Amino acid sequence: MTTPRPTPPRLRRRFDWSLACLLGAVLLLACSCSAVGWNWDTPMTTVIPKSDFGMLIHDIFMLISWWTLGIFLAVETVLVWVCWRYRDRAGAPIPKQIHGHTTLEVGWTIAFAVILLVFAIPTIRVIFKTQEAPAATALRVDVLGHQWWWEFRYPQFKITTANELHLPKGQTATFLLNAPDVIHSFWMPQLGGKRDVVPRRVNHLTLTPQVAGEYPGQCAEYCGVSHANMRFRVYVHEPADFEKWVKQQQAPPVESPDPLAQQGKTIFSSSACVGCHTISGISAGHIGPDLTHFASRTRFAGALIDTTPDNVAKWIENPDHMKPGALMPNLGMTPEQSKAITAYLLSLK
Ligand code: CUA
Repeated sequence: MTTPRPTPPRLRRRFDWSLACLLGAVLLLACSCSAVGWNWDTPMTTVIPKSDFGMLIHDIFMLISWWTLGIFLAVETVLVWVCWRYRDRAGAPIPKQIHGHTTLEVGWTIAFAVILLVFAIPTIRVIFKTQEAPAATALRVDVLGHQWWWEFRYPQFKITTANELHLPKGQTATFLLNAPDVIHSFWMPQLGGKRDVVPRRVNHLTLTPQVAGEYPGQCAEYCGVSHANMRFRVYVHEPADFEKWVKQQQAPPVESPDPLAQQGKTIFSSSACVGCHTISGISAGHIGPDLTHFASRTRFAGALIDTTPDNVAKWIENPDHMKPGALMPNLGMTPEQSKAITAYLLSLK
């Protein structure tokens, strides 16, 4: 016969202020994060996909989320029922103990292995689908991740640009990813990725953008001091607009006859700028971004800074001041010289 256990002293319920403060702080942090970091026009999110690749990732995420929610609810229901059914009651005997129940333990090991197997089937399908070789008709873009900016080359059009990736809607694009310096990661949250960009190795990424628009991109692998400032913009155009953009980029840059711009051209051509930058017909450096159509881009320095006369002039005078760790050296330009170069660069439409 089981002996009834003594009744425990009744616990006095007290409001737990420390727990309440902790929860409040977490809630406040979560709200402030969303208020500061969220831009509804161009959200950095994978849950509003705009390409076939993004859709596949989103669908598998939702499918597994629903399945895990089902498992969570089932487990919690059983847990709550067990807690209620076997709660401590005055005079109640200790329930039957099941520790070391072999059948039960083998049963739930097999059950969870089967659940993981079921999860693996659609997951592996998506992995293979997103690794497929591109069709021969795909638009090829060579992506080079530099510390800390992106270079995009379109070999079939003989175009090179920086920090702004232009794609036609509805056409499959295949990216050949490579890095001249360290490991980066190419990520366009709404379109696809992320995929590592590794020195001396070419990784591939293939996707078809489905909605025209402007999307943010970001390096997603820590790559040095300005990793967070290694951004880019993706412009998905209607096919006719993309063709227009290609034609504009293929044309020689339009120079301004403005004397200040011409003075800037002379300074640019006779200084160390030419060793790093290409301007079609002027210089052929490959260390920094191609500046042939610099003025056609709305941002520069890893899509960090708006292309305004003031910003460009400040950048030329002291790049590191505007972007920590920038590898472009301070060439000791005077404010007058940097203004002249700015006038020249901003004439290169
Ligand atoms: Cu490149 Cu982080």
